[in-house]
Amino acid sequence: MKVLMVCLGNICRSPLAEGILRHKVEERGLDWQIDSAGTGSWHVGELPDPRSVAVAKKYGLDITDQRARQFQSSDLESFDLVYAMDASNYQNILRLASSENQKEKVRLILEEVEPGSGRQVPDPYWNSDGFEKVYHMLDEACEQIIASNLELKS
Ligand code: 4NP
Repeated sequence: MKVLMVCLGNICRSPLAEGILRHKVEERGLDWQIDSAGTGSWHVGELPDPRSVAVAKKYGLDITDQRARQFQSSDLESFDLVYAMDASNYQNILRLASSENQKEKVRLILEEVEPGSGRQVPDPYWNSDGFEKVYHMLDEACEQIIASNLELKS
């Protein structure tokens, strides 16, 4: 299973999602590949935002090996599942899809927890209080991603 987490800058939300899901799959001994990307290019090559690094560290995760990269249309070919953090990311990814198969890989991450809700992970970049909340939303979603994909396989 190859899973890609996508937000706008690839420095706040999707690096956290990548770190959380990677930790969970490692704990379970699953042979999954996890990566993240941003639809925008402003922060390419940068480390995750220090506020994401700090909240990850608080829960025992080190995400400082990650570097931001921009989402590219070939990601829709190479990954099995592409999770968007919000509706804007979702639309920007879908715009690059070239087949129904590629479109079906794209999901809003919080729909894993509440299907059909359209819920979004709020962008915490401009609001330092948001990181803790975002961490817990992503933790719950990543737990569900593993549960639903293990069910599919059994
Ligand atoms: P992210 O947050 O999409 O969760 O990485 C943002 C990071 C940077 C910007 C916006 C959102 N920015 O405008 O530079």
